Amino acid sequence: MNTKWLFRKVRVGLRMEIVLNIAILVVASLLLIGFTILKVSENQILEQKISEGHILLSSLLRGIATLQGDKWYQDPTLSRILIGFTQLREVEGIWIVGKDLRPLIIRGKGGRYVADLRKAMAQGRGEVRLESRGTLWWSFYRRLILTAPLTRKGEVIGGVQVSFSLADVTDRLVVFRRLVLILIIVDSLVLVTFGSFLLARAVVNPLKRLVEVAQRIRGGELDQRAQIEYENEIGELAKAFNQMVERLAEKQRDLETTIKKLKEAQQELLLSEKLASVGRLAAGVAHEIGNPLTSVLGHTEILRKKLKNDKSLLDLVERTRKETERINRIIKDLLQFSRPPTSQIEDIDVNKVIQDSLALVTVQKGFKKIDVDLSLGDGLPPIRGNSDQLQQVLVNMLMNSADAMPQGGSIFIRTKQEDDWVTISIKDTGEGIPAENLEKIFDPFYTTKSPEKGTGLGLSISLKIIEDFGGKIKVNSEQGKGAEFTIYLKKGSG
Ligand SMILES: Nc1ncnc2c1ncn2[C@@H]1O[C@H](COP(=O)(O)OP(=O)(O)OP(=O)(O)O)[C@@H](O)[C@H]1O
Ligand SMILES: [Mg+2]
Repeated sequence: MNTKWLFRKVRVGLRMEIVLNIAILVVASLLLIGFTILKVSENQILEQKISEGHILLSSLLRGIATLQGDKWYQDPTLSRILIGFTQLREVEGIWIVGKDLRPLIIRGKGGRYVADLRKAMAQGRGEVRLESRGTLWWSFYRRLILTAPLTRKGEVIGGVQVSFSLADVTDRLVVFRRLVLILIIVDSLVLVTFGSFLLARAVVNPLKRLVEVAQRIRGGELDQRAQIEYENEIGELAKAFNQMVERLAEKQRDLETTIKKLKEAQQELLLSEKLASVGRLAAGVAHEIGNPLTSVLGHTEILRKKLKNDKSLLDLVERTRKETERINRIIKDLLQFSRPPTSQIEDIDVNKVIQDSLALVTVQKGFKKIDVDLSLGDGLPPIRGNSDQLQQVLVNMLMNSADAMPQGGSIFIRTKQEDDWVTISIKDTGEGIPAENLEKIFDPFYTTKSPEKGTGLGLSISLKIIEDFGGKIKVNSEQGKGAEFTIYLKKGSG
């Protein structure tokens, strides 16, 4: 039986749907079985009644057959036979008719079916009729009417019709039907309860657990997996579901890394754009200031020579010259920052450039109290770059580290190969960089140092140089815990 139409309209749970379907199936089959049993036993009871009736009727016929003469029906023996017969509990009435269907004797409720009598007398054999009312399923039997011809010497001399009451049959059937109905109800309840329990255990519960897991996954818990409880279709479903989630999680991870990379790339792009525009601006300004500055410097030189004897004025001129030279230096830095790299990029040995740079800086005053720990990788491949420019980068980073450790400390320099990259890590035990400044340190003119110590161009120029080599710089630092700068350089072709 299909109950889909019912569930399409009303939202019913799977468990309820199973219960309803089982209930419909169980009740229908029990009704069918009950009906068959009822009908079979009803027929048996009726057949038994009919054969009992036949026995009684034939004994009556045998009694009548002994009577003599034309007026046999007035014989007192017949009255006696009939009195005895009508006293039987189930006999309701007797009707005896003559050859012409004229009623000869009526006892009790006799005289019902003339047609049966006519037929029986014409055909010379008995007729059976059941009086009943009600439906096929719920019928009540009232009477059994047996009709037989009366014959003498092969000649029909009349007919007898006896009606038997079937009240006791109906009583028995009512009790029996009630019993079957109760059995159907009890059986249905037991079967539906038990069947639903079994089906729920095999189908609904595992599905419910699957739904729960799916909901948790929807809530973001991608590490959840369905339990594989059975080796059947539900087990297959759980397996397929797990594989799907696995792929989903994989895709999500891919997506996250891609987004992270994109963000980094965007960050880098922003920085290089910023550098590019600062560079253009710087180039213009540097050009404009450069020329007058050269002449100012020339004039101070003349003044210096002329004021040889005037100590105080000479001192003033000397200070003016120093400050102007400082401006000149900044201008040169700026010009370098803005100029496209003209230096040649070739295969160079990283470790050698590091040693050269160290030789330059360690003689400086700031490095007196600083311990340098060098650990250079063996057999490193050459990298793509320019020795002078890389040295400039390294010197700036080493100076920065020294500046961050005025009371002394250590610098650890490591080189190694990582896939297609050669990395230089410069780590110090200095004051470190607060998280909020990490983003700014590569900005041109960002500095935390006094004007005579730093211009804030060191790292921005360094980044530009390394990017021109096709490399990158990563920084890792926490305030108070030192800083680590890692330079990634592309492995050379040789
Ligand atoms: N190793 C380090 N430890 C702590 N802070 C650092 C370190 N390296 C750089 N910084 C911070 O980054 C800022 C920018 O450095 P950058 O080299 O660009 O400029 P600068 O050193 O201030 O000036 P200059 O142009 O002379 O190099 C520094 O002022 C400092 O605050
Ligand atoms: Mg610096």
